[in-house]
Amino acid sequence: MLIPIPKILSAEQVAQCHAALAKAEWADGRNTAGYLAQRVKDNQQVPDAHPIARQLGDMILTTLEKHPLFTSAALPLKVVPPLFNRYTGSQNYGRHVDGAIRPIFGTPHRVRTDLSATIFLTPPEDYDGGELVVEDTFGPRKIKLAAGDMVLYPGTSIHHVEPVTRGTRVASFFWIQSMVREDSQRTMLFELDRSIQQLGGDVPDHPAVVQLAGLYHNLLRLWADA
Ligand code: NI
Repeated sequence: MLIPIPKILSAEQVAQCHAALAKAEWADGRNTAGYLAQRVKDNQQVPDAHPIARQLGDMILTTLEKHPLFTSAALPLKVVPPLFNRYTGSQNYGRHVDGAIRPIFGTPHRVRTDLSATIFLTPPEDYDGGELVVEDTFGPRKIKLAAGDMVLYPGTSIHHVEPVTRGTRVASFFWIQSMVREDSQRTMLFELDRSIQQLGGDVPDHPAVVQLAGLYHNLLRLWADA
């Protein structure tokens, strides 16, 4: 399932990213692509270990930890420290799949990429093209969100980024290993949680709210690795 999460970063945090990234040394994105993706990848990235990437990545991770919608949708176990890319002058990233396992730079840890995440950092009116296109069972879905908004999409999907024909598109991207590996199970838990939140708001004293909450946690116990 594709899950948009609006305003994950505030306008101040987006401005902080742009100010810091303007001072970073950007590298060819092909440096970090697998041999198949290298043929279709054309963008720039701030290297994993760059202090600016790490400082902004930590800021994003701290924000994610406190975000109830992100937690409910992703049920995160491990998150790859966020990275940063940009596209300009018709740069694009052709159809590809993300590698299933991602090392965490400078550590012996690895993350299984159950979910892919993009946080858009450039207002959509400032560039043409640059849509993230995710191939879904309903067909291709084009995603271009406001600065500070995030989209979560299944790590299993084929996806691409359309050429940026005007302006520059800056984004943060990363992967999440979920406590619940299977997308369909995670989606059901997310929908159940949202329904319980809604019922709990409308009829908080109804005994079924507690029963449903129990059902949610029992399913989580059944399906989750912690
Ligand atoms: Ni990708």
